[in-house]
This record gives sequence, structure tokens and C-alpha cells, in this order.
Amino acid sequence: MTKPERASLQDYLAERVQAIDGVLDRWVPEESIEPASIHKAMRYSLFAGGKRIRPILAIAAADSISDAASGVEHAAATLELVHTYSLIHDDLPALDNDDLRRGRPTCHKVFGEAIAILAGDALLTLSFEVLSRIEHVSAAQKIRLVEELARAGGTVGGMIGGQVNDLEGERKNATPALLDSIHRAKTGALLRASARVGAIYAGASEEQLEAISRYGEHIGLAFQIIDDILDVQAPSEALGKTAGKDEAQQKITFPAVYGLERSREMAEEERVAAHAALRMFDDRADRLREIADFIVQRKT
Ligand code: IPE
Ligand code: IPE
Ligand code: MG
Ligand code: MG
Ligand code: MG
Repeated sequence: MTKPERASLQDYLAERVQAIDGVLDRWVPEESIEPASIHKAMRYSLFAGGKRIRPILAIAAADSISDAASGVEHAAATLELVHTYSLIHDDLPALDNDDLRRGRPTCHKVFGEAIAILAGDALLTLSFEVLSRIEHVSAAQKIRLVEELARAGGTVGGMIGGQVNDLEGERKNATPALLDSIHRAKTGALLRASARVGAIYAGASEEQLEAISRYGEHIGLAFQIIDDILDVQAPSEALGKTAGKDEAQQKITFPAVYGLERSREMAEEERVAAHAALRMFDDRADRLREIADFIVQRKT
């Protein structure tokens, strides 16, 4: 018997993006619902064409544990809600002060700062509403998912903590230790949580969850190393966001501390380590392996 043909990664990603967008569309109130301005702003930023890498990771992690993780895309979508909130706030004048995001003017440029702040808050709040309402998992699993998302977005080693250190690091002496902790927190924590959310949803054993966590840490760090490299090397048109911002704002980045060549090598080391972390899994984890490669090879 010949094996059924396996979709290319490109097709796999495109299919998952559609599924996730469908779920997000169902959870986020329609633009016509009052107060309309906030729902317009939430949808404007959410449906502007992100890669959806976090929810895709959650789905791929669930699939590597069990064939029966139905409904996982709802839990997965909560990661995109938190991520998009973090982008809207990251772009605000008080933070990175960016005009371009996902190929469009930033949320605050279109809707004003007040609505952009509130749109971020609303996406964050909605993520926990969605988690509270997901089906097919036990109450105990739900609590674990809530804790996972809250901690990854939080102040101690989480996204907000990393953003604080990123902002306070501008013009500060960039040590390798500070760089590592900023990147693990501001970006790594949510990517690690993405893989963990899928694994928890699918009922992973502690040993499996531990392996998925290591995988998530390695790809999380790789992801931000590449984001830093692309900020130096890729044009704004390809990125859909303003290139060259990090140097202009004297951010603590991998290229600033290690140079471009060594940064590439370090991202590659993280990719290899991510593969090693998945050693205990069979070919059902192949999508996770391919996503690790994609994260390092991506051009946007
Ligand atoms: C950009 O994230 C911000 C970081 C945390 C590095 P992505 O590169 O995943 O952005 P989108 O979601 O595809 O727009
Ligand atoms: C953002 O890091 C991390 C977030 C928590 C949003 P960056 O500031 O480097 O992200 P971009 O380059 O603006 O997308
Ligand atoms: Mg930033
Ligand atoms: Mg930024
Ligand atoms: Mg960046």
C-alpha cells in the first residue's frame, strides 16, 4: 500500500491559517455590533494577514500527541488574540512608535491611541473568555490552559516582563545575559506556551509536555533572533513593518550584540536543539519539525 500523499508545508500552513481565521471570525464581535469602533479596530489588526504561527504551533503540537484533539483550533486561536494585542501595544507611540504593521498603518494611526489601547485590552480579555468556553476538555485542563496563557503573557518571564526589559534596555549596555532574558520573555514565552497549549489540550503526559516545552523554548528564541536579523536585512515592504527600527531605537538585539553572521549561527543552533527536543516523538511530530525549519528560514 502506498502512503497517502502528504501536503507540502506551504499548503499545510495555508489550510491552518484559514481554519484559525474562521474561528477568530466567530469569536470576535462583528463590526456592526456596538460600540462599533472597538470591534472595527480589533478586526482591523487581527485580519491584516499575520502568519498565525502561534495557533499553528498549538495545533501541530496537539496533532503530535493525539489524533483526537478535536476543537483544538479554539484554544489555539487564543494565542493569536494575545499576540495581536501585544503587537497593537508594541506599536503605540509610548512603546516602539511604529506606523506600519502587517502591511497596513498601525492600529493607533487609523483609530487613534485610545481605541488602539482598548482594542489591545479587548483582545486580551476575549482570549480568556474563549478559553473559559472551549469544549472537549476537562475543567482541570481548562484551568491549566488559563494558567499557561496568563503566565506567558505576564510580568515574570512572560511577554509583558520582556517588553519592559526591552524598553528599559534602550540605550543600556547590552550584555548577552540581558539580551537572552529579553528575548526569551518578550517572544519566547508565548511561543513556548503555544506549543504547550496544544499539548495540554491533547492530554500530553508530563514527559511529553516537558519535551514540547523544550522544543517551544528553542523555537521561541530562534524566532526572535530571526526577527532581529530581518529587521536589519529585509525591506519594509517584505516585512509589512518598518525595517531598521531596532538600530534607530538602540534596541538590545542579537545582531547588535553578536553581529549578523553569529546571530544566524545561533538561530541555527536553536533549530537543531528544537529537533533534538522532539526525539521521543514519531513522525506525527514532523509538522513541528518543519515549523522549526520554517521559523529559521522565513523571509518575513
Ligand atoms: C512579530 O511576530 C512580533 C514578534 C513577537 C517578533 P510575527 O512575526 O509572528 O508577526 P505576524 O503575526 O506574522 O504579523
Ligand atoms: C515584539 O518585539 C515583541 C512583542 C511582544 C510584540 P519587536 O518590537 O521586535 O516586534 P516587531 O519587530 O515590532 O514586530
Ligand atoms: Mg518592541
Ligand atoms: Mg516593535
Ligand atoms: Mg522586531
